[in-house]
Amino acid sequence: MTIIVTGGAGFIGGNYIYYHLKAHPEDRVICLDKLTYAGNLSTLSAVMNYPNFRFVKLDICDREGVYRLFEEEKPDVVINFAAESHVDRSIENPSVFLQTNIIGTSVLMDACRKYGIQRFHQVGTDEVYGDLPLDRPDLFFTEETPIHTSSPYSSSKASADLLVMAYHRTYGLPVTISRCSNNYGPYQFPEKLIPLMIINALHDKPLPVYGEGLNVRDWLYVEDHCKAIDLIVRNGKVGEVYNVGGHNEMRNIDIVKLIVYALDKSEDLISFVTDRKGHDLRYAIDPTKIHNALGWLPETKFEDGIKKTIAWYLENQSWWKEIISGEYQKYYQRMYANR
Ligand code: NAD
Ligand code: DAU
Repeated sequence: MTIIVTGGAGFIGGNYIYYHLKAHPEDRVICLDKLTYAGNLSTLSAVMNYPNFRFVKLDICDREGVYRLFEEEKPDVVINFAAESHVDRSIENPSVFLQTNIIGTSVLMDACRKYGIQRFHQVGTDEVYGDLPLDRPDLFFTEETPIHTSSPYSSSKASADLLVMAYHRTYGLPVTISRCSNNYGPYQFPEKLIPLMIINALHDKPLPVYGEGLNVRDWLYVEDHCKAIDLIVRNGKVGEVYNVGGHNEMRNIDIVKLIVYALDKSEDLISFVTDRKGHDLRYAIDPTKIHNALGWLPETKFEDGIKKTIAWYLENQSWWKEIISGEYQKYYQRMYANR
């Protein structure tokens, strides 16, 4: 099987490529990535010379380039991880989110229609369901929960999901969608909560917690997400949406404190800052469908996953030091200096 993985130089796509090459060494894997600020070739350095791996620097919005690649590689499967993925950046400047997340997805699906495909899998997010109240722990997102977005990011991802289902109904494109909760693990870009707090704590820099830190996220170790996607692509039903999450809800403040203790730092580093605009209160996935239909269950407990993740950031400082030495500093100043 030949598989195109878009956005494979990013966090989840990179982890997926490692997972796939190990689980299915007989497959040919092509990574298509524009290498935006969030894409890092160093993430893929260990597989770059594999004979069944190819990296192509390309924008998913570049129709000609995408068609050329499909012509050359004749992929059986496309998994679309490529996206602008950070909510705070979408609040600052929505337009690139609309371009990549919506237009880019449609270009990929047009290529799938033109050249034929066994499966187009869209990596979606639980943020398309909006948020749940903090005082209703009995409520969860199911696949039937109405789309109700809060940020330009989640709106662009919801638009992409709607287009994916429209291409299925209108053109019969064999699609699936997964909607996952917050991922954590190796290679996550330092703008996101967990790596940002680990790296700031290591530098004894303030740990900027939005609002009162009471917002809840449902954390899943990235490898468990990769396994779910692989299962959906192989055994999932065409035209279906699968929610992915492991019932691991935590308040932001508790995550930050856990990192502070793990690194033997002081809680005095915690700094409560102005809240994110439109900040979603709580995400919580009901994974019953993927469990019943495909037998998926998360394998990594949060206590183990967070230890592995912190250890990875301690052992791979050159990976993130390279990132935070450049453009990231300007981003950090813009986002946090006067907050
Ligand atoms: P990321 O920001 O770490 O990586 C995104 C990758 O996409 C980067 O390598 C970037 O260079 C590439 N990219 C961006 N625009 C592109 C374009 N126009 N053409 C080609 N490549 C482009 O993101 P991530 O956290 O790994 O998320 C991957 C996917 O999973 C996204 O679709 C995101 O919406 C979804 N998702 C993420 C999470 C999470 O917790 N991080 C949870 C659920 C779903
Ligand atoms: O739920 C899935 C989504 O999870 C994905 O679709 C997104 O791509 C991914 O970025 C993530 O979105 P969040 O907004 O939940 O992740 P983030 O790491 O940005 O923030 C997690 C929580 O931590 C959120 O409530 C905001 C808060 N936060 C974040 C940062 C960066 C802080 O309090 N301080 C911070 O500095």
